[in-house]
Amino acid sequence: MAIFENKQDKTFTLYTDNTMYQMRVDRYGVLQNAYYGKRMEYTDMSYAVYEGNTCFSPNPLDLGYSYSNNHVPQELSVCGVGDFRINALALRNADGSLAADPKFLSAEIIKGKYSIPGLPAFYGEEGETLVITLKDKLYDIYFHLYYGVFEKYDLITKAVRIENKTDKEIKLERALSATLDLPNGRYDMISFYGRHARERMYERTHIKHSKVTVSSVRGASSHMENPFVIIADKNANEEYGNAWGMALVYSGNFEITAEMDLMDKTRAVIGINSENFNYGVGPGETFCTPEVAFVYSGEGFGKLSNCYHKAIRNNLCRGEYKYAERPVLINNWEATYFNFNADKLVSMAKDAAEIGVELFVMDDGWFGHRNDDTTSLGDWFPNEEKLQGTLKSLAERINNEGMRFGIWFEPECISAESKLYSEHPDYAFKIPGREAQVSRNQYILDYSRKEVCDNIYEQLCKVLESANISYVKWDFNRHISDLYSVVLPPERQGEVYHRYMLGLYDLLERITSKFPHILFESCSGGGGRFDCGMLYYMPQVWTSDNSDAIDRLKIQYGTSFAYPVRTMGAHVSVCPNHQTARVTPLKTRGNVAYFGTYGLELDITRMTDEEKTEIKRQIKEFKKYYDLIQYGDYYRLISPFNVEESLYCAWETVREDGSEALVCAVRYDSDANSAPETVKVRGLCPDKLYRINGSEQKYLGSALMNIGFRLAYDFVSYPSRLYHITLA
Ligand code: DGJ
Repeated sequence: MAIFENKQDKTFTLYTDNTMYQMRVDRYGVLQNAYYGKRMEYTDMSYAVYEGNTCFSPNPLDLGYSYSNNHVPQELSVCGVGDFRINALALRNADGSLAADPKFLSAEIIKGKYSIPGLPAFYGEEGETLVITLKDKLYDIYFHLYYGVFEKYDLITKAVRIENKTDKEIKLERALSATLDLPNGRYDMISFYGRHARERMYERTHIKHSKVTVSSVRGASSHMENPFVIIADKNANEEYGNAWGMALVYSGNFEITAEMDLMDKTRAVIGINSENFNYGVGPGETFCTPEVAFVYSGEGFGKLSNCYHKAIRNNLCRGEYKYAERPVLINNWEATYFNFNADKLVSMAKDAAEIGVELFVMDDGWFGHRNDDTTSLGDWFPNEEKLQGTLKSLAERINNEGMRFGIWFEPECISAESKLYSEHPDYAFKIPGREAQVSRNQYILDYSRKEVCDNIYEQLCKVLESANISYVKWDFNRHISDLYSVVLPPERQGEVYHRYMLGLYDLLERITSKFPHILFESCSGGGGRFDCGMLYYMPQVWTSDNSDAIDRLKIQYGTSFAYPVRTMGAHVSVCPNHQTARVTPLKTRGNVAYFGTYGLELDITRMTDEEKTEIKRQIKEFKKYYDLIQYGDYYRLISPFNVEESLYCAWETVREDGSEALVCAVRYDSDANSAPETVKVRGLCPDKLYRINGSEQKYLGSALMNIGFRLAYDFVSYPSRLYHITLA
C-alpha cells in the first residue's frame, strides 16, 4: 500500500520503495509537511516539526506564541495570513484582500494516477492517488491537493486544483504547484543554466538566507535555466547524501526558489512564474497548476537520476515510439541549411541508405518561399519549385531509396512576410500601439486563441496527410515578448502566458494522437524546451544546436541529471565543427552520440569512403548496444565540469542485474606526459568476475567499483574509448 492514512495521528503517509513522505493535519487544521526522506517504519513524525516562537511571527489569537504560520512546514503555503516566507499561493479575493487560509476538509484515496485536464502529467494505471481537500476558512474556495505515488521509481507527484465556489471571481496572483519544507540541514541547489548551444550547464549554489531562484519569463522553459533542480546536502555527490529532485511538468514560464528562513530552515517552492501571471477564476471555475515530480534519494545524485530516467521512459513518454526502436536518422540542416532542392536531398538519402541510415529528415526551408530565415513561417505548404514536384513525390523518391521520410515545422511562429500574416496580422502577439520585437525575424502566434491553433492544426494535417511522413521535428526559435492577446480584455492579459501553453498542449495532443505512427522530436533552437512537459507529447528532444562532440559532453552530462539518454537527440556532424570550429576524431563524435539517439547531421555525399565506412561501423555498433544504452541504468562517472580532477569525461550504462556495462570515456583536454587516469564503474555485481572488451584478465566487480580500471592512453586530440564490461 503506497498511501496510508492514520486517523488517530491525523497523518497521511506516502511510501515508495525507498522513501517516505508524511503530512499531518495539525490542531489548527493546517496540512503540515512533517517529513520527506528515507523510508522508515510508520511513526508519527510530528515531534520533529517546529511550530513557532516569538520572533515577530504572527500567531492565531487562541494559540499564542507556540504556533505561527511563519514557522509551520506547509503543504499549501499561502501569503496574507502570517507566513512571510516564500510561498506558493497569492489569492486576491473579490473583497480585494490578498489572503487565503486553507484548512483541512477531507481526504480521499482513489485508484490509479490522477490526470490534469489540458496539462501533461506522469501517468499510470497502477498505484493510487491521494486527494486532500482544504477549504478557505472564510470563503467557499477549495484547494484540492493531488498526490501520485510511483513506488518503484521513488517518485511522488503533486498538483493543485483551485475551485471557486463563491459567486464572485477571484484572482490568482501566484499559483505555484508545490512547497517543500526540508528537514533541518544545510543545503545546496544544483541547477542547469545555459544559453543557445550551451544548454544545461551544471551549477551548484549554497542556499543561504537570501533567495536562490532559477526561472524563466521567456514563455518557454528555455536554454537559460531548466525547470528541474536538485536540493542536496552540502556534501552530497553522485553516490552519497540526501538529495531531493524537483521537476516541473511544464514548458512555459517557471520559477523555483529556495531560501533559508529566520530559523535556518530551508523551504523551496516550484511552479509557474508569477511575473505577468494573474489568472481569473470565475464562480464555479477551477484552475489547475502544472504537476511537480519529486524524487528523494538517500544515495546521492546517481540514484536520483536513475529514478527520473525510468519514470520518464515508462510513465511520461507516450505513443508508438515509447519503446519502439528509434530510427537512425540523417538531417540535412548542417549539410545544406536553406540551400537544397529535391535532387540534392535524394542524393543524400541514397548515400545514407547504403551505410544503414533509416530515416531522412528534411529540415527548415521546404515551404512557402523560404530560402533564408526572413519569410514564410505560417505558410505550411510545400515550395514545389524547390522540391521539384510535390511533397508526396519527394517522400516517394526518399522511400524508394529505402529510407523513411521526416519533415521540419515551426508551428508556433509567423514571419511578417507570409500569406498568413498578410491575412491575419492579429494572430501574432503585439501590444496595441507598440511595435512588436522580432527575433530571428519572426513573431509568435497567439496560441491562447483557439482559432489560431485550429488554423495551424488544419495546415499541419494537410501536409502530414499529403505524403508518407514518418517523423516530425517541432521547432521553436524565439522566446515570447510583446505578449498581448487581442481577444482578451485588459484585466485578463495576465492569463495569456499560461493560456498559450494550454493552447500549445492541446494542439500537440490533437496532432500526436491523430498521427500516432509519426515520431515527433521536440526542438527549440536545440534544447530550449527540454522539459517534462514536452516529453509527454514528444519522446525525444534535439538536445542542442551545438553538435561539437566535446561541448556535447557537458551538455549531455548536465541533461542526464533528469532526462534519460533515450530522450536526447544526438548527431554526428562534420569537422571543423560548425559551432566551434573544433576538429575531433569521427570515432569520438560517434561515441558521444551513442549516448543519445544517434543520428547524422552532415552532407554524406561529401564524405570520403573511409569516413562512410566508419559511420557504417558506428551504426552497427550503436545497434549492437542499443538496448543496453537505452534501457540500462545510467551513471555519471567522471564529470567534464571538473577539469582540475580529470581530463576525461566518463559515463556508463549498466544492465539492472549488473551483468553487462558499457563505459564511454572521452579525453576533452590534453597535457604532456599525462598522469594515468582510472575510472570507477558502478552497478556491477560485487562478487562476480568480468572481462573488459573481451580481455584475458578477469576483474572482480568490487574491484572495478572500488578501485576502477586504468583508461587507455591515445596520443591524439580528443580520443575516446568504449569499454564493454561482460561477465567472465
Ligand atoms: C533550430 C534547430 O535547432 C536546428 O536544428 C534547425 O532545425 C534550425 N532551427 C532550422 O531553422
